Amino acid sequence: MLILGIESSCDDTSVALLDCSDKGCFVLSEKTASQIDIHKKYGGVVPEIAGRMHAEKIVPLIEAVLENQPKPDAIAVTSGPGLITGLLVGVEAARTLSYITDLPIVSTNHIEGHIYSTQIKNFDNVILNNVKDPSRSYKRDSSAKPQNDKKEIQFPALCLVVSGGHTELILMKNHGKYKLLGATIDDAAGECFDKGAKLIGLPYPGGPQISKLAVSGNTRAIHFPRPMIDSKDYNFSFSGLKTSALYWLRDNKNSLNINDFCASFEQAIIDVLVSKTMKAAKEYKPKTIILGGGVSANPKLRQTLQEEINKNLPDTDFQIPQMKYAMDNGAMIAVAGYHHAKQKDYTSWKKIKADPNWRLAK
Ligand code: KG4
Ligand code: ZN
Repeated sequence: MLILGIESSCDDTSVALLDCSDKGCFVLSEKTASQIDIHKKYGGVVPEIAGRMHAEKIVPLIEAVLENQPKPDAIAVTSGPGLITGLLVGVEAARTLSYITDLPIVSTNHIEGHIYSTQIKNFDNVILNNVKDPSRSYKRDSSAKPQNDKKEIQFPALCLVVSGGHTELILMKNHGKYKLLGATIDDAAGECFDKGAKLIGLPYPGGPQISKLAVSGNTRAIHFPRPMIDSKDYNFSFSGLKTSALYWLRDNKNSLNINDFCASFEQAIIDVLVSKTMKAAKEYKPKTIILGGGVSANPKLRQTLQEEINKNLPDTDFQIPQMKYAMDNGAMIAVAGYHHAKQKDYTSWKKIKADPNWRLAK
């Protein structure tokens, strides 16, 4: 089944065509237009500008992704959660495409996309033959090497989704069956990275900058709090960490070592994320642990969680997205959409709606 994935919930317009079957979901074609350079000037995403940029890019991206490719069987579009100005553009594009082509639409949750981002399979050099053949028989270059040979998700799976807008621990009992174990009660982990970076004058988005500078810093140089690390629930809180960094900078202006600051700040966030995830893993005994969302691009977080799992739960499979699929992308939406398309869980173009507050798990 060929799925066209469309993502426009934040500051990336991203479209991908994937070939999905029981063997997995393979990327045939993908294009992303990032808006980071524009939002950088304002220190964060400006919803009005984001909407306009998505509107400019979405049709050219869809056209480019479908060029010389077989016709998709379904469209998966992010309809929430996210910025309404962005979601509307993706949903309206999908609605129009469905109206014209009769293709069914899967209304897809962005967080579910991040969970399935670990399952995206791609080839370094996909070569398709017979793409115009109506039977859609095509071959790949036999020398193409899969970039991801990850196993399928084994259930129950424990998912830590950490992004600019979300920090959630979700128990996935099966495809489409989610239970929320905990979430942030204030700032998201990515937001905390971005706000901490802003305090020391780093450009948006600060997460990647902090992680780069942290590499040569001392994680113990500054003692930042680990909010809620010992709380009995699986909730998170990151706003106090930002405030504590603000006070530390006020009082230690002259002794700031950027690398030490970044390393200590990053470590505080990672300690909380890893500790809560391991606590949940010990209670719920998942077969798979999934780390997804933009913050999953953080190498130290990946490494720390991997080490803890190896040490304490060696039989548990740990899945992370390839670096390029950690950030928002259309391919992850296509994979999540595929699992709904298999069940014919479609929404008519007449009924699909953008829902900025759509909660995947309750
Ligand atoms: O999932 P995503 O692309 O967009 C949302 O759905 O929010 O996540 C973006 C977030 C930003 O806050 C960004 O700073 C963070 O992911 N991020 C990182 C790293 N790379 C991206 N945070 C920490 N370390 C990184 N290497
Ligand atoms: Zn995201």
